[in-house]
Amino acid sequence: MGISEGNGNDPLQRRSNGDPVSPLEAKTLGGDSPVSSGSSLDFQRPHAPHANLEIFEMRVAELARNKPEFAFNPADPWAKTFRHALDTLDYGSGLKIVEVGVGLGVNVALLLTKHPENEVWGSDFVPGVIPKSEELVAELTGTDRARGYRAVPGSSDLLEHWLSGGQFHGQTPDLIVCCIPQVIDPRSTESNDELSLEDRLEQLRTSGEDAAHYYVPSLNGVRDEHFKKFVSLMDEYNLGLNARLLVEAREVLTPESGRIAMNLAGRVPLPILHTMFRETGFEEPRIVHQTIVRQDDVTTSIMPLAATERKAELAERMQALSGSKTDHRFVFYDNPDGRGRPLCAMEAYSRELSRQPNYHDLYVLESRPKPLS
Ligand SMILES: C[S@@+](CC[C@H](N)C(=O)[O-])C[C@H]1O[C@@H](n2cnc3c(N)ncnc32)[C@H](O)[C@@H]1O
Repeated sequence: MGISEGNGNDPLQRRSNGDPVSPLEAKTLGGDSPVSSGSSLDFQRPHAPHANLEIFEMRVAELARNKPEFAFNPADPWAKTFRHALDTLDYGSGLKIVEVGVGLGVNVALLLTKHPENEVWGSDFVPGVIPKSEELVAELTGTDRARGYRAVPGSSDLLEHWLSGGQFHGQTPDLIVCCIPQVIDPRSTESNDELSLEDRLEQLRTSGEDAAHYYVPSLNGVRDEHFKKFVSLMDEYNLGLNARLLVEAREVLTPESGRIAMNLAGRVPLPILHTMFRETGFEEPRIVHQTIVRQDDVTTSIMPLAATERKAELAERMQALSGSKTDHRFVFYDNPDGRGRPLCAMEAYSRELSRQPNYHDLYVLESRPKPLS
């Protein structure tokens, strides 16, 4: 499927089959098709970022200005960091990819721009983003490339459709990608104490708030008692949802070909993130990309993390799991370059109270399931 130059009367670039190429695609791809003939995941050789990622980002920033209120802003530094990593890693073609928490679909658009022959499923807890993501993927990639997008309609909790025996059951993705909420269990926030889980879910489904901070605090996909306890422990570190995804992903991916790439805040020390992968049946992760972002204290207060840090018994449990003396204090900085002594959550929280900015690491980590022994 190549991209032809078009003719003098036709302002649109067209493919050889006559389909028009979208303006972004034309700008982004120039005259060359990015189609690769590779068929396997290549994890060892990160590629240089796509020369046109900058143009892609300009278009995303433009689209983000008109985003629906409830959708996460795809021009947010977290989202951009993740796209940078996805762009650097060339995952190859012929793959089945799942994005959990697809939002407005910008990552799907990037992945399909690079490899239109891949199939990319996108699902989200907030159902309203799904039709929007279909529009946006078509707009960013052009209709032809958007054909690889398999939007999962309705509300989806993590990998429930792959685990539940429904439509996708038995299909094995090669890759799962995600940048999902890293906040405490939403049931435990003050204003929601009086709400039942059902009411809370209904509120989330219909609220006009940015969906990035909400999730379903369910353990439905977790059968094993040990994992249930582990996910609850990780919730104290704002990582309950991510730990549950790893548990579910371990059931869906195969050690032979499966991979997962996650955008994870380094507010917790890196060894704790390693423990999360190890304990859920994954290999030690590798850092694909690392940056420092500002803590958004308007939407995610450091207060619950400061409370976690004071619970000595959590430090002991974490130590028992990691097998070594893991520093259980959180890691923040008072400057965007990460210079100087890191601040613990208590120190960062007192800065938050006096309206001083805090910063933290943000990692894109990638791993594969450990073979079952
Ligand atoms: C930080 S946003 C990322 C959106 C998008 N991937 C991006 O990069 O712009 C996190 C997304 O995860 C979704 N989400 C939250 N809880 C979820 C769950 N339990 N299952 C699936 N998606 C969830 C949110 O609705 C939101 O769209």
